[in-house]
Amino acid sequence: MQSNAVMENSTSSFIPRLPLEEGDPAVDGRMFRRCLGQYGTGIAIITTEANGRRAAVTVNSFASVSLEPPLVLWSIAHTSRSRELFSSSGCFAVNILSSKQMDVSRHFSSKLEDKFADAVWASGDFGSPLLDGCLAHFECETYSLVDGGDHTIIIGLVKRASRFEGEPLLFSQGQYSIADSHPAASPTPEASGTKPDTTAEGTIVSQIFEAHHLLSTKFEEHRSAEGLHLSIARIIACMYDRPGLKIDQLAVATHLGQRDTEDAISELLERGLLFASGGGYSLTEAGRHLRVAIQKRWIAFQQAQIAGIPEADLRATIRTLSKLIDQNTIAE
Ligand SMILES: Cc1cc2nc3c(=O)[nH]c(=O)nc-3n(C[C@H](O)[C@H](O)[C@H](O)COP(=O)(O)O)c2cc1C
Repeated sequence: MQSNAVMENSTSSFIPRLPLEEGDPAVDGRMFRRCLGQYGTGIAIITTEANGRRAAVTVNSFASVSLEPPLVLWSIAHTSRSRELFSSSGCFAVNILSSKQMDVSRHFSSKLEDKFADAVWASGDFGSPLLDGCLAHFECETYSLVDGGDHTIIIGLVKRASRFEGEPLLFSQGQYSIADSHPAASPTPEASGTKPDTTAEGTIVSQIFEAHHLLSTKFEEHRSAEGLHLSIARIIACMYDRPGLKIDQLAVATHLGQRDTEDAISELLERGLLFASGGGYSLTEAGRHLRVAIQKRWIAFQQAQIAGIPEADLRATIRTLSKLIDQNTIAE
């Protein structure tokens, strides 16, 4: 049978790979969160209102549950100040963020007293605030609350769903990202019945995306060799140039989520690579050495990648890329 053949093939070519890290989540919570971060998600702001009180939180725990009846779920930490209102209000709205709303995600994950004061929103017909500029809204009636360890799982019966134009904001491996079609999944000219496009106009942009993706993945091995992962490497690079930054400033400067920034700071402090001073943080001597080591690896990596490519080709590539950057850079 075909399915067995596929299974046999994949089993016979299976080569066990060493994990970057592994362990017991009960012992190492940060490792657990990094492993969970390998599962990319979207970002939603969940809102509610009851008796003149409003609450809103940024979440990436949103998921669909059932089509008939239409159910969705998300989970709220017991430590959230908004948990009580979400547990008692009887309704909530899920506002799915677009790629243009990274600042909205940050705003609603903050500890601001009134998160609605600076937001653009309107009351929905089912009692919960709806935020402007989102990709989708799900207006829900609270269906059930389920105990989920240090979180409460909130299930909603969707009373109305709506969808708007735009691209999703994603969260993956501890950082905000945007969606891009997988090069192998893009519709090919062959599939649409036209001749394959081998001209420069037809291939250059997808080649840029693919080269960027492959090189980033490959450089990951060099970071691991220095005992670093992406969020730690970003914090170190940022602190090297701007010592004394506070956690909130670091989260903004590195485009990492608040929790991942906090995790990275704790890990760097434990490893003696960072020290706290005057409410902010700076790299220790060992931290600065590590930054220099990574920089050296980056330079050697680039040199190895371009070795053997004729000088004239490299110059032409740089001219083309500079032009693309210039014509797409939005003036401040
Ligand atoms: C990307 C991202 C995803 C988050 N996901 C959740 C989540 O699923 N559940 C949760 O309780 N908090 C989550 N948080 C943290 C909350 O947004 C934050 O703790 C909350 O807004 C605090 O608000 P409150 O104390 O005013 O309720 C997330 C934060 C970010 C940046």
